[in-house]
Amino acid sequence: MMAPVDPTTTKSWARLATLHQDLKPDLRDWFATDPGRATELTFAAGDLYVDLSKNLINADILAALIDLAGEVGLAERTAAMFAGDHINVTEDRAVLHTALRAPEGTRLEVDGTDVIAQVHQTLGKVYAFADKVRDGSWVGATGKRITTVVNIGIGGSDLGPVMAYEALLPYVQEGLELRFISNIDPADSYETTKDLDPETTLFIVASKTFGTLETLTNARLARSWLLQGLQDSGAISGDEAASSSAVAKHFVAVSTALDKVADFGIDPENAFGFWDWVGGRYSVDSAIGTSLAVAIGPERFSSFLAGFHTMDEHFRSTDFEANVPVLMGLLNIWYNNFFGAQTHAVLPYAQYLHRFAAYLQQLTMESNGKGVRYDGSPVTTDTGEVFWGEPGTNGQHAFYQLIHQGTRLIPADFITVANPAHPLVDKDADVHELFLANFFAQTAALAFGKSADEVRAEGTEESVVSARVFTGNRPTTSIMAPELSPSVLGQLIALYEHITFVQGVVWGIDSFDQWGVELGKKLAQEVTPAVGGDAEALKQQDASTQALITYYLEHRNR
Ligand code: F6P
Repeated sequence: MMAPVDPTTTKSWARLATLHQDLKPDLRDWFATDPGRATELTFAAGDLYVDLSKNLINADILAALIDLAGEVGLAERTAAMFAGDHINVTEDRAVLHTALRAPEGTRLEVDGTDVIAQVHQTLGKVYAFADKVRDGSWVGATGKRITTVVNIGIGGSDLGPVMAYEALLPYVQEGLELRFISNIDPADSYETTKDLDPETTLFIVASKTFGTLETLTNARLARSWLLQGLQDSGAISGDEAASSSAVAKHFVAVSTALDKVADFGIDPENAFGFWDWVGGRYSVDSAIGTSLAVAIGPERFSSFLAGFHTMDEHFRSTDFEANVPVLMGLLNIWYNNFFGAQTHAVLPYAQYLHRFAAYLQQLTMESNGKGVRYDGSPVTTDTGEVFWGEPGTNGQHAFYQLIHQGTRLIPADFITVANPAHPLVDKDADVHELFLANFFAQTAALAFGKSADEVRAEGTEESVVSARVFTGNRPTTSIMAPELSPSVLGQLIALYEHITFVQGVVWGIDSFDQWGVELGKKLAQEVTPAVGGDAEALKQQDASTQALITYYLEHRNR
């Protein structure tokens, strides 16, 4: 495998530094003097219409960014990823989430096995299960059909399914509901199950490793809740056989560690596998999406996967000059490394996408929050900006002030769709039009601002003119699609997966490991006895931690 190229040593990096130094951002002027700007900087990727024209770029900057992609070997790294090379170096694994959505019949051999055939075999099993739950032929311990499916997982085994379920609510079968338990805070388990009927509830324990403390604890809590509930109502006796038969009917699992699933007491027949070449945060399109497949049905889940594949093909085969994930990834490099931007806002004008930013936080920050490159050497630039966001228009009334007039540059992606799932009318106004007017107004205000003269012309008192000036030149990307269908959602997710990859390649990092979350997990295990009152274990802690635990022990009411 080629060693990472230090991007800062490339010719294009030096060129970008000069271009940045000489740049006088003036989107008003750039639009006024170049009538073709919007058209030239708008691109299509699948069903997505992506307008990059309100970014702080010109033809020279774009050309230098594209040269940078060439100099760091983006094409070679992309080919290596799609081919199944072990580009996840620190875990010595292939990175093949793209194989999860490859059409049936295509082949990809990795270490002598056709992984796409395996993918479709598992999908067949997931779809057969989903159909049974949906048509009522899968019944619980008392013969009742399942009405609530609770996904128990955390991180990639939760965020993808919950985000996609919320996004695709209009496609969910009536009479079926998904819920999610992720946090080890007992409040999560309690609140999620408190009004459920054990007879009609099915749990999906989703964990790639099946070793995650939070998930296994919550799975055990769920098992106790189920058995207690069924016994209390007299539905089952308390004996071992009745309990395991109830667990078999109310628990399925998704994991790469099927042996551990069996140890937990879930019948391997009711387990759906996946592979170590699927990263947790890239797994919503694997069997980890089983809860979603149940909710929206196999046909729509297939179309969700087809959406991912459309974006994969765009990414794999489009020249960098018109390749949306490449261009958006390079723009992030531009803002991160040349403007010093530390955060990136994602602002969906689509209430159904209200968990999209949370989902992207794991995807982007667990992937690119790294300080060493994939050969172990230190990075030579800043990496991994903070992704955040909330749906518009709510964000407008909360934090947009800082984006419009604050001192920091915050590049923002605005995402919306032309057709709402549920059009509503208020008086004579189509409410979706009111909503979209905000989307268009915000991106224009951020780009073009409002000058002091314009403020004065409104008759504003001189003493408050400066407070009412908007500098403009605040970069945004606008992404539109016809509607938020399963396919469009798949396209959007894959778009951000590939943006993340492009940035990781420029920085020379392994975007597919996550060693940074391991230390905290290990320490939590070491601290647990001290929290339980073990004086010796308490002594092993530092003074601050000892005092915090002591406070807890003194204040806990038992
Ligand atoms: O938090 C770290 C992490 O390993 C994530 O990468 C992963 O998505 C999550 O934990 C859950 O892991 P698992 O699916 O193995 O339970």
